[in-house]
Amino acid sequence: MSDEGTTVATDARVFTAQGLGRLVELVRARVTPARFAHIVRVAELAAAIAEANGFTPQERAAVVEAALLHDAARDLSDAELVRLAPPRLALERAHPLALHGRAARELARRWGVTDEVVLGAIEGHVFGVAPHDRVGMALYVADVSEPGRGVNAHIRELAMTDLPSAYRHAVCSKVEYLERCGKEIHPDTLATYRAIVGPAAPPARPDAQGAS
Ligand SMILES: [Fe+2]
Ligand SMILES: [Fe+2]
Repeated sequence: MSDEGTTVATDARVFTAQGLGRLVELVRARVTPARFAHIVRVAELAAAIAEANGFTPQERAAVVEAALLHDAARDLSDAELVRLAPPRLALERAHPLALHGRAARELARRWGVTDEVVLGAIEGHVFGVAPHDRVGMALYVADVSEPGRGVNAHIRELAMTDLPSAYRHAVCSKVEYLERCGKEIHPDTLATYRAIVGPAAPPARPDAQGAS
């Protein structure tokens, strides 16, 4: 995370303007300052993407709320992640960090969030969402391309004019990144990839990086 991002960590106006002050404090208490700075940047970018793509006010509010909550569990211990989101696969038992989207969804639910659009976007920021889920796509794209990451600027720019296309690039980038690193790919990530590019698609584009 950049120094610039850490400075932004104290500025949560994007959330408080929407009456999310209580959730801001719940999230802030569970993440590092650098993580919170990332969360703010994701929310600001996701809000800009939503605006540029003609989202309704309700969709824009859902995007910002989901962005605030998406990494609420990202800095928890493995034991806490497993307690909040019991593993379903050997891959998840071996890598509890893979559970952080589902764990964040559970935290949000416990904190009173009931909107399925918001909850689905929180969980889906790790393994992807359906290609018709605009709120989930905006969060996913903002998460992998927020400026503090220093990668995927082309995805960020594309998202301002063509969100579905940017989402396609983002998912392909993540799959390609995992393949390049020789990491095992979660079946839900593969399912998202196949839903987008088809069952007999060529390998993902090798021109970008992804991370959760
Ligand atoms: Fe994130
Ligand atoms: Fe994440």
